[in-house]
Amino acid sequence: MQTSVFEDQGALARELARRITDAIRQSPAIVLGLPTGRTPIKLYDELARQTAGRASWARVRTFNLDEFVGIPASHPSSYRQFMEQHLFRHVDAAPEHLNFLDGTAPDLEAECRRYEAAIDAAGGIDLQILGIGTNGHIGFNEPGPELAARTHRVTLTHETRVSNAGLFGGNVEQVPVEALSMGMATILHARRIVLVATGGRKASCVQQTINGPLTTMLPASFLQLHPDAEVMVDREAAARLEGATSR
Ligand code: GLP
Repeated sequence: MQTSVFEDQGALARELARRITDAIRQSPAIVLGLPTGRTPIKLYDELARQTAGRASWARVRTFNLDEFVGIPASHPSSYRQFMEQHLFRHVDAAPEHLNFLDGTAPDLEAECRRYEAAIDAAGGIDLQILGIGTNGHIGFNEPGPELAARTHRVTLTHETRVSNAGLFGGNVEQVPVEALSMGMATILHARRIVLVATGGRKASCVQQTINGPLTTMLPASFLQLHPDAEVMVDREAAARLEGATSR
């Protein structure tokens, strides 16, 4: 897997935003897969800044990776609101092109099937941006004895609920126990994947993602199978990678 190490989060965000902006200019109806979490916040800031006046979001289609079960789109802690706050309200995106899983759908299994069909109908994901959990999860594909292939309902680990507590006023008890998430095959079918990780907390899972064995106990390790996957990290997240030099 190609690995690029950047001096700091800002340099990484600027470079990835530049690439995404170029990709939108080249393919105005590009299909993007997008993550939430603290990591992409700087990227989204940069993306809104760099695309302003240079690249229109009007035809861009997006699919977010995951959403909490039981949290309506209008709830301030929903991933949908996160995306509105950090990206969508700052760009000229068309609401009908922004796709989210609905964690309040009456039939959650049907909702997962609807999402898969919508991704297919859009022609598949051209560029999937990913963050990574400290336990190696991508989307909400948590470590375990097996991984789900397609969009599914998932029970969150305590570790993941703790790292999402910030969205719920710091109270882990308020973080839902379940979520809906794209599956491993949904993610791996994207034409191009960029995983972003910053900070020393991610150094261990980044090392295992790139150099470790493929294991369901570290879902991100399966990115090694993808023909066009890249890992973009800052120096701190690269701390355990041998011979990594930053740019
Ligand atoms: C959540 C999301 C993941 C994200 C992870 C990392 O669990 N479901 O998609 O990668 O958080 O979050 P952070 O960037 O805040 O470390």
